[in-house]
Amino acid sequence: MADDPLSRLARAAADEVQSGMHLGLGTGSTAGAVIRELGTRVVAGLAISGVPTSERTARLATEVGIPLTTLDAVDRLDLGIDGADEIEPGLGATKGLGGALVRERLVALACDDYLLVAAAAKLVPRLGSRAPLPVEVVRFGWRQTAVRLAALGLRPNRRAGGDGLDDPYLTDGGNVILDCGTDPIADPTALADAVKAIHGVVDHGLFLGIARRALIAEPDGRVRALRAPEHGPRVGRASGDGGR
Ligand code: A5P
Repeated sequence: MADDPLSRLARAAADEVQSGMHLGLGTGSTAGAVIRELGTRVVAGLAISGVPTSERTARLATEVGIPLTTLDAVDRLDLGIDGADEIEPGLGATKGLGGALVRERLVALACDDYLLVAAAAKLVPRLGSRAPLPVEVVRFGWRQTAVRLAALGLRPNRRAGGDGLDDPYLTDGGNVILDCGTDPIADPTALADAVKAIHGVVDHGLFLGIARRALIAEPDGRVRALRAPEHGPRVGRASGDGGR
């Protein structure tokens, strides 16, 4: 059994999962490692089902034998496990470099418990320190939407697809992503509200008030558990969701 930091992290995250759970299955390399680990446990008898946050994750989960369901077929999910591009001390996160942010948020909001899994390099004092902010926008009129994002002080750059320089990256929802350069964000909640209010924006990668727990892979192989300071009800768990 592999003993690198990612494999240890995957095992620690899988240890949080019990038979009978309905899971939110994240997207990206870190979530993928957890899904593979869960797959080996399913083969050994773990009885779970999962809602995938992307077509890519659906394919991986199917490949490793995790039964899938849909968000419309469940009331709530017991636990969501997903990666992040940045995590700040309050466990706010930026997500979406893997292109799955819309489904990731909808799944996260349906989870009673939500666990971020990431390498220690993703820890930042402030969001916006090491990664751009991905914003998913509808294709129609995307340049105008980009101008409105720029008016907020962001530096939008349409993500390129893999097939050619002129082809945009398209999400599972058929939208484009504007990766927005930003300085460290002083007020992520205010920025999230302002971005979400722009017509043409589908969603952004600021996941605030959603994760209460994180498992962090340290370079020496240790897995560190982080917990968010309590600041009222978790977003999506109780009333006052607000859609973010
Ligand atoms: C997917 O859209 C993202 O939100 C990922 O969760 C995030 O980019 C982390 O991916 P890695 O685990 O591959 O770094």
